[in-house]
Amino acid sequence: MPLNGVSAIIPVAGVGSRLRPHTHTVPKALINVAGKPILAHILDDLMAIGVRRLVLVIGHMGDRIEGFVRAHYGQLDLVFVEQPERLGLGHAVHLAESAAAGGPVLIDLGDTILQADFSRLKVGGSSLLGVREVDDPRRYGIVELKDGRVVKLTEKPEHPTSNLAIVGFYFIQDSALLFECLRENISKDVRTKGEYQLTDALQRMIERGAVMEPLPIDAWFDCGSPETLLQANRELLDRQTQGTSIPGSVVRPPVSIAPDAVIENSIVGPHVTVAAGASLKSCSVKNSIINENARVEDILLDASVIGENALVRGNFKRLNVGDSSEVELS
Ligand code: G1P
Repeated sequence: MPLNGVSAIIPVAGVGSRLRPHTHTVPKALINVAGKPILAHILDDLMAIGVRRLVLVIGHMGDRIEGFVRAHYGQLDLVFVEQPERLGLGHAVHLAESAAAGGPVLIDLGDTILQADFSRLKVGGSSLLGVREVDDPRRYGIVELKDGRVVKLTEKPEHPTSNLAIVGFYFIQDSALLFECLRENISKDVRTKGEYQLTDALQRMIERGAVMEPLPIDAWFDCGSPETLLQANRELLDRQTQGTSIPGSVVRPPVSIAPDAVIENSIVGPHVTVAAGASLKSCSVKNSIINENARVEDILLDASVIGENALVRGNFKRLNVGDSSEVELS
């Protein structure tokens, strides 16, 4: 396995405020998209490229994340580090130092599902930063390139000099220098936008001669808000090939329906995730995520995210409409 000896640092301490109310009860990393939690997509991808050691930096509802990862990824070498105060991504990564120091580190943000040419990751090869062109670079860390190398990084600039965003995937060969730069910024209280930034530590590494290359990210599924979560659900389901048929109901693929979900007399899809224990009765649902043990009955749903154990019940109307009438029910 090419990435033996690499520690993946996965910061998952964030609150996920844009996904409230779901993140009141479920940590953002465990929100279901296209049939499994965001974090499961990330960890499955990491396992597929040969990563065996994970350092998860937990905070908000960290117990639930730890329980999930230990239950489903217990075969990996797991370390959980607590970030008691949210002082920034740089601070989160700094806390992983004693667990991750030694070999190269791969930092993969816990809300970022992505696809890229991971065969470029090699122990002893180049350090790589995931990048992608974006419309509004002011919302991201950005990189400037020269001769195929990263020459400057800036966190959420007011006046961006490039539209190449840092995507949240960093493969760093010289972890000793990374941790040294993080420690230095924290001890000197170097903050940007009030936080200790990973971007600032990487910039310090470049100033000290570290060489980093861009890794173009082919697909980036941002799960940060209900709209982008549903978009990720659609795009990820489009990439899965799963045929399902349910007697008495109509399934319009692509969908992800947990084996123990109950579907009766309904139309499901396209682009619907139905999690374990959920039930849909006499309804029509498209472009939606129905979470664990939710019950949905007698309703037409589109672009909806229904939380765990929620009950959504509508009603069907009775109409007696004459010829040439126009009826609009909102
Ligand atoms: C973080 C990084 C930023 C990067 C972004 C990608 O920002 O600091 O450089 O572009 O992730 O999602 P955050 O989204 O945590 O504000």
